[in-house]
Amino acid sequence: MTETRQESLPWLDDASRTDIRCAVEALYRVHGLMGALTDLDALLVRISEESRSVAGAEAASVILYDEQADELYFEVALGDTGDQDRLKREIRLKMGQGIAGSAAASRSTLNIADAGGDPRFFRDADSASQFQTRNLLAVPMIERGHLIGVLEVLNKVGADTFSPLDVHVMEMFSGIAAAAVANARLIEREIKTERLAAIGQAIAGMTHHIKNIITGLNSSTELIDMSLDRGNREVMDRTWPVLKRSVRRISNFVQDLLSLSKPRRPMRHECNLAGLVGEARDSVRDLFNTKHIEMSVDLSGVDGRVWLEADGIYRCLLNLLNNAADALPAAGGRVWVRAWSTPPDTLEIEVADDGPGVPAEVRESIWDPFFSTKGARGTGLGLATTAKVIQEHEGTINLARSGSGACFHIVLPGAIRPACSAEESLGESKQ
Ligand SMILES: Nc1ncnc2c1ncn2[C@@H]1O[C@H](COP(=O)(O)OP(=O)(O)OP(=O)(O)O)[C@@H](O)[C@H]1O
Ligand SMILES: [Mg+2]
Repeated sequence: MTETRQESLPWLDDASRTDIRCAVEALYRVHGLMGALTDLDALLVRISEESRSVAGAEAASVILYDEQADELYFEVALGDTGDQDRLKREIRLKMGQGIAGSAAASRSTLNIADAGGDPRFFRDADSASQFQTRNLLAVPMIERGHLIGVLEVLNKVGADTFSPLDVHVMEMFSGIAAAAVANARLIEREIKTERLAAIGQAIAGMTHHIKNIITGLNSSTELIDMSLDRGNREVMDRTWPVLKRSVRRISNFVQDLLSLSKPRRPMRHECNLAGLVGEARDSVRDLFNTKHIEMSVDLSGVDGRVWLEADGIYRCLLNLLNNAADALPAAGGRVWVRAWSTPPDTLEIEVADDGPGVPAEVRESIWDPFFSTKGARGTGLGLATTAKVIQEHEGTINLARSGSGACFHIVLPGAIRPACSAEESLGESKQ
């Protein structure tokens, strides 16, 4: 390899060949960084480091162009001496000001052998950084005709000025740095647009859902008013459960939003699994009766009590039971809740139904917040909240079967514990 290179550059002496080899290797490294580093700041620091080392300079800077202010500012400033942070904090250059400003304004490389003797040299930058510039090379960073900034190397080590090879390498580095900055800005803009669109969609979905519940609440209260005025007990008896359901829906919705909105640690305490499942069953009893749904519960595989945040797991069960009820046809169907323990301390729970199952094309999306196939009837928060509560318990939840019905399988490690202490029992009774 080395021999081939020497033959292809016979007019160069050994030192020049080494310089070229170093430059090509540095270019190769910097180019590789483009794909590997997603953090723009880190990438610009690496480009400055490579610039400094390959050009043999005492200091290097990446100066970016602020289009709105039509000014340049120091984004990265590297040097072993001086106060580079002060330079970054305090110095902004107008277009045409200093060597960097002139390189930016003329969009051409400036290789200055005697900085002190050049009238364009901006001494305030040296005062701020307490660095003494003897010579410097400033290369504009241009991407598709747009000025991005200036790449600068200062004080060539062991020579009075930067060489033509340094100029070529810095021009290539500046092209790569410009592309990296432009790319990162584009990605940032896209993410922002996508985030805004997602927020808009979420708010539209939530508003729609709340509006539906409130419409139900309003008509129920009007009917109750009317039945009170007329002393019509029958209308009252029919309307009251509808009103209660609407209140429950809105309170569930707010609870789900709250659990999703912030990271939290579950407040575990010892509780009775049968009691927990019983509570969830009571909450859906009316709904299951109306829809002719038969529910069977088998907790025989769990011996004793469990160590969980009861409220959180109750909400998970409720969400899964509500989903099962929604999935089953008007003619009714069956729902199973099964739980068992696996050594040493894991609790497993399955909630299954014999409805149509989750269609293959939506299986990936069902865990996303606000994903729902139920139109105005669903907010799409049920499974997202359930998964979050389970993850907070350091457990997992999966869709275990889908096709002939859906089966959600929960695994909760550390949920089976030997008998609790008196203090923990006290905690439970306070709940
Ligand atoms: N047991 C099930 N059978 C079939 N599909 C289901 C079942 N459970 C969930 N899904 C699908 O997953 C989607 C997301 O469920 P999720 O509970 O997150 O939201 P939702 O039920 O639509 O709304 P809500 O916020 O009111 O719970 C549902 O819209 C439905 O398409
Ligand atoms: Mg749901």
